[in-house]
Amino acid sequence: MDKIVINGGKPLKGEIKISGSKNATLPLMAAALLAEGKSTIRGVPDLRDIKTMANMLRIIGATVTIEDGNMTIDTTGCNYFKAPYELVKTMRASIYVLGPLVARFGEAEVSLPGGCAWGPRPVDFHIQGIKKLGAEVELESGYIIARSKKLKGNIVNFDIPSVGATCNILMAATLADGKTVIQNSAIEPEVTALAEFLVKMGAKIKGIGTSELEIIGVDELFPVDAEVVSDRIEAGTFLVAGAITGGEITLHNCEIHHIESVINKLEETGCKFKISGKSVTLFAPEKVKSVNVKTAVYPGFPTDMQAQWIALMSVAEGSCTVTDTIYKDRFTHVSELSRLGANIKLDGNIAFVKGRENINGASVMSTDLRASACLIIAGLKAKGRTDVLRVYHIDRGYEKIEEKLKALGADIWREEGGL
Ligand code: EPU
Repeated sequence: MDKIVINGGKPLKGEIKISGSKNATLPLMAAALLAEGKSTIRGVPDLRDIKTMANMLRIIGATVTIEDGNMTIDTTGCNYFKAPYELVKTMRASIYVLGPLVARFGEAEVSLPGGCAWGPRPVDFHIQGIKKLGAEVELESGYIIARSKKLKGNIVNFDIPSVGATCNILMAATLADGKTVIQNSAIEPEVTALAEFLVKMGAKIKGIGTSELEIIGVDELFPVDAEVVSDRIEAGTFLVAGAITGGEITLHNCEIHHIESVINKLEETGCKFKISGKSVTLFAPEKVKSVNVKTAVYPGFPTDMQAQWIALMSVAEGSCTVTDTIYKDRFTHVSELSRLGANIKLDGNIAFVKGRENINGASVMSTDLRASACLIIAGLKAKGRTDVLRVYHIDRGYEKIEEKLKALGADIWREEGGL
């Protein structure tokens, strides 16, 4: 298994381009199933999760090609409506095929995703939502089996806003009979990007970007050619990497308003910013100040940046709390950061972080995607050598992270071997 090795202590300097968003690309790929023919998605990042979703679509019978970030999905041959456990267990977002398959082909068999490294991540909203649209749903041998000759519009109200369930039900509703209203829908940029993609395909959707989406079903959708939005979590991760090293970096291809919550928090730590169009330059102080963070749904501080923030706070001046209100168990990185000498105490979903003068390199283990990013960030600051093991997690969601960090002057490389 590959590992990433870092000799810490170098301030990052220079400029890089942010890639297309993983979490925006995945639902667009599923949405392509809603139309017969060939859709093109441009600016697709080269990531393991994207390849997993491409394989998922191939199992269904689509022809998927990816060349230089341009993906084509031809759905003409789709004839097998099952998402098998072997794929779904490696990537929960495979559940995105549920809505489109039932809506267009009248049936879907999608494996329940099972556990997650950081606690329960149920899919009950997806199931309740598709039932509300009239599908008959059975749970059998670990699979969600959903059938409907023709979905019917309805009011779907989520207890809490869910990105995945909103996307799934939104896709399903585009081909349902009549009007669907999704109340308390998620308003993350990935949901908005999907809604805009669907409108391009011919869907009728009102309220895009708000917490109430109104969809009038149409008989047919059409293939499209569209560009994927840039990855706000990749951008946030690089800003935090720049901040922890006391660096000065410019990121191009950013949707600045998507990362406002991260920029605002970094400003509180003492970082300064210059923004010009889709580019942002960060000027970090030698040492950042401690700043409390509480994750929240968009436009709040993203849970996908919580681990990286804890890494930054572990070398900040002072003490702070980092609270995750979205995923209360998402803290597997804390014990690994402690191996680097970080002073963090966990109480439920609150991490109490006491900033240290510095942390020291060691071997640490990635446990999931954002935890890996957090450990790499910590390694960039730590004294001496840090080996981040099991980096296959990072390849799920960060395109060429070590190459981009190297371009910013980090002493970082990938090695074969390790646990
Ligand atoms: N929830 C339920 N039931 C459901 C669905 C969600 O109770 O059926 C709860 C979850 O347990 C959680 C909350 O609702 O407490 C929000 O979860 P959401 O459904 O919004 O998450 P998701 O769609 O499964 C996406 C991202 C995650 C990101 C979350 C929150 C993708 C593929 N995944 O997950 O990204 O953390 O939204 O913003 O878009 C990552 O990229 O590392 C990642 C985990």
